[in-house]
Amino acid sequence: MSWQAAGDRYGALPYRRCGRSGLRLPAVSLGLWHNFGGGDELTRQREIVRTAFDLGITHFDLANNYGPPPGSAESNFGRLLDLDLRPYRDELVISTKAGYTMWPGPYGDWGSRKYLVASLDQSLKRMGLDYVDIFYHHRPDPSTPIEETMAALDHIVRSGRALYVGISNYSGEQTRLAAAELRRLGTPCIVNQSRYSMFVRQVEPDLLPVLAQEGIGAIAFSPLAQGLLTDRYLDGRLPADSRAAGGVGFLRREHITDERLRVARALNAFAQEREQSLAQLALRWVLRQPAVATALIGASRPAQVIEAVQAARMPELDTADVEAIEEMLSA
Ligand SMILES: NC(=O)c1ccc[n+]([C@@H]2O[C@H](COP(=O)([O-])OP(=O)(O)OC[C@H]3O[C@@H](n4cnc5c(N)ncnc54)[C@H](OP(=O)(O)O)[C@@H]3O)[C@@H](O)[C@H]2O)c1
Repeated sequence: MSWQAAGDRYGALPYRRCGRSGLRLPAVSLGLWHNFGGGDELTRQREIVRTAFDLGITHFDLANNYGPPPGSAESNFGRLLDLDLRPYRDELVISTKAGYTMWPGPYGDWGSRKYLVASLDQSLKRMGLDYVDIFYHHRPDPSTPIEETMAALDHIVRSGRALYVGISNYSGEQTRLAAAELRRLGTPCIVNQSRYSMFVRQVEPDLLPVLAQEGIGAIAFSPLAQGLLTDRYLDGRLPADSRAAGGVGFLRREHITDERLRVARALNAFAQEREQSLAQLALRWVLRQPAVATALIGASRPAQVIEAVQAARMPELDTADVEAIEEMLSA
């Protein structure tokens, strides 16, 4: 018998409008950057994705290069669609991206029309989809004219391969240029996906004001700083099953510095006074920004997804909370 999603799945999470678009995203979304690669157990992946959808997480974020090996997260997600989620396709917002190296030669990377269209066709094949909901240019390309990259995004929407387009890792100024070009072409840029957490705040002065002016939604990725803003590393040890111990990602032992731990512990004590986990406080903190449509988390187990969804229902931080956090971050 096929899997039945929870009947009450739309009771747990608020949905927030993505910029000035008609698309609403769950306050928490799930990304498949880690834990969904070729070496990861499909049963665990399935539990995580089922838990997420059962709790109202409709948005699943991928990219052509997620794995390892590159492409394997999309292939695995295709399997999970076959196993459980395909009957729910119209309830899902599936995104993918292209911009990093995928195949050898001059057409397997960056931002040419040649690369973007071919890459998305490969992504659709791996996931067994006719279209994705959001397609992103994953990183700015210093040598392809922005007009060509944006024309490729416009073409991708007009050819039915994606419903919406966005950009990722673009600065405020690059976002302004891309948005203007897409507007001229008649395909709005609805979303900018950028790294944002208590520990990584470059978007605050540079990008968020541009997004507010342009009516573009922000997707905050790595809001838990890949686990540094959770209880994972607080006791100073590196759990064997943690991302930092895994050695395949970008979070390394050397990133878990005494300085980071000192601040994380102070934040954790503050969270506990509020009867929250540190992860929940960190999520509430990014969601305090009106421009942020969703906090895009990763998870290595279902319990982490459950904890994040609980955070989305917790009270908003007030001015005194934000000021207290500011002091801890700058101490
Ligand atoms: N556009 C881009 O360039 C870009 C770049 C990076 C990421 N992203 C997107 O953003 C998504 C999320 O990134 P991320 O995985 O770095 O996000 P994150 O939410 O900051 O980190 C997720 C990791 O934190 C740990 N964690 C999560 N919840 C926890 C909890 N409640 N308690 C303890 N530990 C917890 C887990 O690590 P353990 O494995 O240690 O349990 C989990 O894998 C990606 O999947 C991807 O879709 C986009």
